[in-house]
Amino acid sequence: MAEFEVTTPAARYPVVVERGAISRIPEFVPESCGKLFVVSTGDVWKLHGERVSDALGGGGFDVLFLPGGEENKRFAPVEELAERLVELGADRSSLIVAFGGGIVTDMAGFLAAIFMRGIPVIQIPTTLLAQVDAGVGGKTGVNLAIGKNLIGSFHQPLAVLVDPEVLPSLPEREYRAGLYEIIKAGVIAEERLFDFLVENRERVLARDQAAVEHIIAESVRLKCEVVSADEHEKGLRRILNFGHTFGHALEAETRYSRFLHGEAVAWGMRAATHLALMLGILARVPGEQILGAISSYGPIPMMAGINAKALAARMLNDKKTIQKRVHFVLPVRIGAVQVHADIPEMMVRNAMERAIDETRSAEFDEVSA
Ligand SMILES: NC(=O)c1ccc[n+]([C@@H]2O[C@H](COP(=O)([O-])OP(=O)(O)OC[C@H]3O[C@@H](n4cnc5c(N)ncnc54)[C@H](O)[C@@H]3O)[C@@H](O)[C@H]2O)c1
Ligand SMILES: [Zn+2]
Repeated sequence: MAEFEVTTPAARYPVVVERGAISRIPEFVPESCGKLFVVSTGDVWKLHGERVSDALGGGGFDVLFLPGGEENKRFAPVEELAERLVELGADRSSLIVAFGGGIVTDMAGFLAAIFMRGIPVIQIPTTLLAQVDAGVGGKTGVNLAIGKNLIGSFHQPLAVLVDPEVLPSLPEREYRAGLYEIIKAGVIAEERLFDFLVENRERVLARDQAAVEHIIAESVRLKCEVVSADEHEKGLRRILNFGHTFGHALEAETRYSRFLHGEAVAWGMRAATHLALMLGILARVPGEQILGAISSYGPIPMMAGINAKALAARMLNDKKTIQKRVHFVLPVRIGAVQVHADIPEMMVRNAMERAIDETRSAEFDEVSA
């Protein structure tokens, strides 16, 4: 249906967005490739493993499992799989196929990045979030107890296969978590995508095939462009962090247990939007449109017990905080953002308090954590 390309100084690879894309794995396995290892989680393999297995002719590969869950996105399981790989005869000619959500694409990608100083990986993201974001762009890594994604490496894949056919089994909350990252893509650079999300909310939430494929393709196209322009996040790629400075602090403060990544980002985009409004760099009308769009794809979990002061302290620990200066990606209109540093802490806290207060409203009450 759609094929995009990431071109960086280090690599050039296709990102295929297509129903049935999984069946095309063999096209992207180099002839010189040795043993093939699929890395997945038990649940995803049970639901959709057959698609991978069929694509690979039913055998000739091993499947290795990761435990899944943000709390297990740690170094230890990666080390265990590396040991397993050696036991199973992996060498520098081996290939990893990462098959799962963002946790798997990050961890299996990281395993591929460091196993014998790097072996190739094909990414097959299976959550909406991973399809539009985590699976594309070569960022891999794991969490430390003190913070998210603090160990990692850039490791571009041979190809990314985005197959919308795996999405119907995705739980509702996970699906909406991915939609927030698509709203993010709209706000930072794609006004038409933003409008589409606003105008087609019901179709999108009902997972209408054409609508879902459209928004995935548009987000993937943007991500490919941004990564191609700035692989290592020295400049442009930072725009993808809209909502993430706040969101990462919220995830850390709630020990990665109350909010899904995308939900934390949704809240973070609200805080960033309020901050932009307070700074006067974003006009009232688009500000309300952004807040309205985020709400309309809600709700997110309750913010009870969370305070802005603690979140502000967390931000200093974010790995994006360079020399204690926190950088914020702030919308200036729908489809454009700016990066700001040196914003007074009181203002940042006020913006978060606003976002906390409105998220306590009844609108969000029905969420089960
Ligand atoms: N590398 C990057 O550029 C980047 C970008 C964004 C997010 N991330 C990372 O991605 C992670 C979050 O990823 P996620 O939201 O995909 O979470 P996840 O990987 O935990 O997946 C969510 C849940 O859905 C299950 N699942 C996956 N595919 C399914 C399917 N098709 N049907 C039913 N269930 C399915 C998973 O097993 C899991 O239980 C975070 O750790 C975040 O840091 C990385
Ligand atoms: Zn994200």
